[in-house]
Amino acid sequence: MSDNAQKLYYPPESLAKNAAVPGMEAYQALVKQAETDYEGYWANHARKLLDWKKPFTKVLDESNAPFFKWFDDGELNVSYNCIDRQVNNGLGDKVAIIFEADDGQVTKVTYKDLLSRVSKMANALKSVGVAKGDRVVIYLPMSIEGIVAMQACARIGATHSVVFGGFSAQSLRDRIESSSAAALITSDGQFRGGKALPLKPIADEALAMGGCESIKKVLVVKRTGTEVNMTAGRDVWLNDILAEQPETCEPEWVGAEHPLFLLYTSGSTGKPKGVQHSSGGYLLHAMLTMQYTFDIKPDDVFWCTADIGWVTGHTYIAYGPLACGATQVVFEGVPTYPDAGRFWKMIQNHKVSVFYTAPTAIRSLIKAADANEAVHPDRYDMSSLRILGSVGEPINPAAWEWYYENIGGSRCPIVDTFWQTETGGHMITPLPGATPMVPGSCTLPFPGIQAAVVDETGLEQPWGQGGILVVKRPWPSMIRTVWGDPERFKTSYYPADFQGKYYLAGDGAIRDIDTGYFTITGRIDDVLNVSGHRMGTMEIESALVAHEKVAEAAVVGRPDDTTGEAIVAFVVLKGPRPSEADAPAVIKELSAWVAKEIGPIAKPKDIRFGENLPKTRSGKIMRRLLRQLAKGEEITQDTSTLENPAILDQLKG
Ligand code: WTA
Repeated sequence: MSDNAQKLYYPPESLAKNAAVPGMEAYQALVKQAETDYEGYWANHARKLLDWKKPFTKVLDESNAPFFKWFDDGELNVSYNCIDRQVNNGLGDKVAIIFEADDGQVTKVTYKDLLSRVSKMANALKSVGVAKGDRVVIYLPMSIEGIVAMQACARIGATHSVVFGGFSAQSLRDRIESSSAAALITSDGQFRGGKALPLKPIADEALAMGGCESIKKVLVVKRTGTEVNMTAGRDVWLNDILAEQPETCEPEWVGAEHPLFLLYTSGSTGKPKGVQHSSGGYLLHAMLTMQYTFDIKPDDVFWCTADIGWVTGHTYIAYGPLACGATQVVFEGVPTYPDAGRFWKMIQNHKVSVFYTAPTAIRSLIKAADANEAVHPDRYDMSSLRILGSVGEPINPAAWEWYYENIGGSRCPIVDTFWQTETGGHMITPLPGATPMVPGSCTLPFPGIQAAVVDETGLEQPWGQGGILVVKRPWPSMIRTVWGDPERFKTSYYPADFQGKYYLAGDGAIRDIDTGYFTITGRIDDVLNVSGHRMGTMEIESALVAHEKVAEAAVVGRPDDTTGEAIVAFVVLKGPRPSEADAPAVIKELSAWVAKEIGPIAKPKDIRFGENLPKTRSGKIMRRLLRQLAKGEEITQDTSTLENPAILDQLKG
């Protein structure tokens, strides 16, 4: 062991004994199986875990790489696998969803109820003309209807594209246009933190912008009861048409490669990409990771705090837990309402046993608990917990330790799961009954995932040396293409640098010199991760320069104690640089503008004005310098290549 060897945390024996992967030997055996017979490993799992209408005979098709296909000639239905088969297996009366509303009201939905609700919704979609292969955009808050809508699309073979309820009209419009969706499902509004916020009015604004002509019907869920405009012939209240629908709906059997959903996510350039996922391979990994990473058991109460607008809410709310016949908590509200003890109280009340959240939430709840003893986790009984999870961004060791001690009572393993919208499910993660943990490290690849750290030429780096994170073999739940832009799929994920052989994650990583454990060192492209939300710097820059006062803008990230990264924007106005007295008003205006263009999550934390941006003599913006300025670091290096060194002073902030 090297001198700086880190402390290892071992899984408790009682948990390991009964775990799906009960120790490192079992883990290594799985890894070995996958190495010796890669296709056999995945095929066995796919046969065991999924119900196929028509069994597949082919496993992996690499003939048109990197457009890989898995289980291509097999047929199944995702909704059938998530719901019908639980009912058929005697779980009809088991609670599938414990929904807790913003105001604390609890609704329980059994698998039998869910089957009838999904079937009705599926029939409602069909009744307004939605058919297999159509895209349906879902712009809904965290709700039972949100999950039902996703499952209903899956049931009839429509491809859903969920748009996070915090996105603006412009973002919604862009996603509708790009997916040429036939229908939009939304609600009058949403409750968050005791407030009713609008959704339908934002959807109306999006639809009025042009580019959304593909939308034939808008189905509206009544949630807040706020009055909204309904366009005759286009808009219908879902509650009305659902009441008329039959309670059964034969699932549409689709090929394993049939696109289950599109989910738009930020890249380093251009508009967000529509990441296309499959049906069979995706669901397989959703289930397998529920079993191996979360060790899900029949009497567990699972709670993933993500929103269905993000991939985590797809795989670990809408699909994975249901496919495993689990009981899960679904939460409408925010962690700080009515106070910052909300999560802990919900864990106590619902006897949550597996809890999955984001480092940002943990960090902000640490602060809240430090400031107010009344919301400290030690005030709550969380003895039901057995496994904790983290996702979305690196978790700093201090937050990890707090989570481990204060939430998990030093007895619950933490699975620090590294994955992405594009990967469909966990890629690198501890397994709770097997992997000794190191705070801040996502440890080892999920069995069957061949992750590696390479240099720019694709050469594998020795342990202890940082590099680029890649995946060497295609896996079942991977992105299939970028919707409508296969070329972008190739250049973004299978770049020529690696001869098109490796999947490029877009993150840097380093493997520990002793254990080989992976630690993610952050994005290597111009993608920011703010509170676990992915955003392209270029998207924010484009939003800023779309404002009439802005001539030029450059956006960088800077480390932030709570949100992981914070957005810093350097702006050149068309008019003169604002005086100190004038700046706050312009900052406010630009912030509100970005919120309107993209969504409040994209608002810069810090906006600074210069007469210009630091550029090389050839006119390239020096982002490295901007990142240093954003952090408040002294610029010590040679700036003689700068065309205009004087403006550094203006941008110091
Ligand atoms: C980051 C979220 C470190 C990473 C599921 C990745 C992480 C991006 C972790 C994907 C983790 C996610 N440790 N970094 N455990 N999990 N990331 O597409 O930069 O919203 O590329 O998917 O989040 O974000 P996305």
